[in-house]
Amino acid sequence: MARNNFVIAIDGFSSCGKSTVAKALAKKLNFVFIDSGAMYRAVTLYLLRHAIDLNNTQAISKALQDIRIDFVPQSDRTLIYLNDEDVSEEIRRMEISDRVSEVSAIKEVRQAMVAQQQQLGSRRNIVMDGRDIGTTVFPDADLKIFMTAAPMVRAERRYKELLGKGESVSLEEVLANLAHRDHIDSTRAESPLRQAEDAVVLDNSDLTQEEQLEFVVEEYLKRKSR
Ligand code: DC
Repeated sequence: MARNNFVIAIDGFSSCGKSTVAKALAKKLNFVFIDSGAMYRAVTLYLLRHAIDLNNTQAISKALQDIRIDFVPQSDRTLIYLNDEDVSEEIRRMEISDRVSEVSAIKEVRQAMVAQQQQLGSRRNIVMDGRDIGTTVFPDADLKIFMTAAPMVRAERRYKELLGKGESVSLEEVLANLAHRDHIDSTRAESPLRQAEDAVVLDNSDLTQEEQLEFVVEEYLKRKSR
């Protein structure tokens, strides 16, 4: 079915700064920003809290029916709610990061999230970031960006972010967690992380946030005027 809205898909490895670019772009264009990774994190939080066995697909399918995820925009950021509870902070904790790749590799979880993501982006102009947005969720996205950066650059960014939140982790642990997630994300059977053929690559190892924004805005303007 033809869409009338403009969809921007931003995919790439963990901690590449996808959300930062996606948020800045959405703000600049007045589009709705949707962080698809936050949805997988919220599901992970729910399954861990309810001690649901990740091998029990029946229990997972049942749990998915009890999970409602909402994005609630505030003036400065968007909060994520899991069944009426604001979990924006909790889903960023290391315990969740450690398990989220495992949860997001589960077929039932992906099917449920992809359906919700397609719904969220069916009528509005959106910027959605994730791993499979340009390949599976919106294969017909109007603009696809694939982000990447050197592993150490990514680890250092993530490490600083976690320290700032008062978590005690080492740089080595963060680097290992990223490598582990990259591996699971790109080798899983269900819509693995891969670059869409028609995606534009943005390697931001040596770029400032302003330069990244400039790059994506330019790509947007090229497509908009077509
Ligand atoms: O972007 P993030 O680090 O918050 O994502 C958390 C996890 O969710 C990550 O390990 C990969 C997974 N994910 C996914 O499989 N598909 C998406 N569209 C978004 C995230």
